[in-house]
Amino acid sequence: MYKWLDERLDLTSLYQKVLRKAFPVHHSFFLGEITLFAFVVLVLTGVFLTLNYEPSIREVRLPDGRTVPAAYASILYIDSLSFGAVIRSLHHWSAHAMIAAAFLHMLRILLTGAYKKPRELNYLVGLALLGLAVVTAFTGYALPYDNYAVTATRIGYGIAASIPWVGGTIAEVMFGGEFPGSERSIPRLYSLHVLWLPLLLMALIGLHLAIMIKQKHTQPRYAERVAPGKILGVPMYPQQMVMMGILFALYVGIMTMIAGAFLAHPVEAFGPPNPQHPGGEARLVLPLALRASPDHPRKLAVPALRGHHRPRVHRRGPDSRDSGHRGPPPPLRGHPQGQDALPGTPLGAPRAHQRHPGPPRLLPHEHPSGLQD
Ligand code: HEM
Repeated sequence: MYKWLDERLDLTSLYQKVLRKAFPVHHSFFLGEITLFAFVVLVLTGVFLTLNYEPSIREVRLPDGRTVPAAYASILYIDSLSFGAVIRSLHHWSAHAMIAAAFLHMLRILLTGAYKKPRELNYLVGLALLGLAVVTAFTGYALPYDNYAVTATRIGYGIAASIPWVGGTIAEVMFGGEFPGSERSIPRLYSLHVLWLPLLLMALIGLHLAIMIKQKHTQPRYAERVAPGKILGVPMYPQQMVMMGILFALYVGIMTMIAGAFLAHPVEAFGPPNPQHPGGEARLVLPLALRASPDHPRKLAVPALRGHHRPRVHRRGPDSRDSGHRGPPPPLRGHPQGQDALPGTPLGAPRAHQRHPGPPRLLPHEHPSGLQD
């Protein structure tokens, strides 16, 4: 059989060229492989998740009578399956592990000078891989469609949309419309997350490894001392492959223990999206994202919020009464009903800092997120 295949596919020369490749023996050279293992685990666990996930925000009724978006309901369903929550957590933690390992792998490349000629091209491919991995993780963040995920993704949408010139196009391509709000957002993020970005990652990883095999590895410093000018290492097959198999098994074992011990993102705890009360730690960043808008507060950085609550702008300075705004006048500090009347301050008179009107600000009770900005 081997002879038959060899005569047609020239397997022996493939074996000599690729499988006999010397792989340096040094722990730091395993970081690229750990990144690869994390990606493999992400694909495998991702296949399980796609089989049970519905990429839609149509309203569905839960057995307890609540009406929630279908995407949110499907995460509750996955968590209810045997090992469902662990597999979802494994996906979650592997995404973290992939980005952390890619970052450490990049550090190894930088600290050992492996980016220098002739490997600049592979360094750039690696940078593209790291960027793409981060974008892929981001597109997956919104998919559970709970209050936490929607708040966090809304910030990403606001940042993307406020990039000068290209922001609108990027936001449209990534989110398929305003996020949250557009019915096309979740299907768009879903197709990017499970199809287009992973395909691009696979193609780039293939290119990265092909270039690495063609150019051969750099050598660790000890190898240069032991065998100067020579390539020192174990052959890719069988030794390196056995080590990779052991490392992969270790990776899956350790990550599964972590996934079992620290279940990812409890969607029930955050509930379905609620624009009045953004969820999770992400809401701490939301006011900063709003402020980052070039023309805050008249136009919010997160256009999705405009539909929910159109903010009214009141100036706090003495010009507030003739600023022509249509809303009710701002509460006066020092007013008898106010909380912060200062002794000796004439009622209704502006305080010292109010005589110099600063940039217009939303008053806390008017903030669309319900938070103080
Ligand atoms: C994100 C996904 C990535 C994967 C799956 C990946 C995978 C790998 C693997 C398996 C190797 C061979 C083993 C090793 O040297 O560690 C390697 C080598 C290499 N990688 Fe990556 N890598 C990724 C990202 C990066 C990044 C972010 C950079 C740098 C910006 C980079 C630059 C390189 C270079 C220059 C080599 C050749 C190293 C040498 O010859 O010593 N890679 N990569």
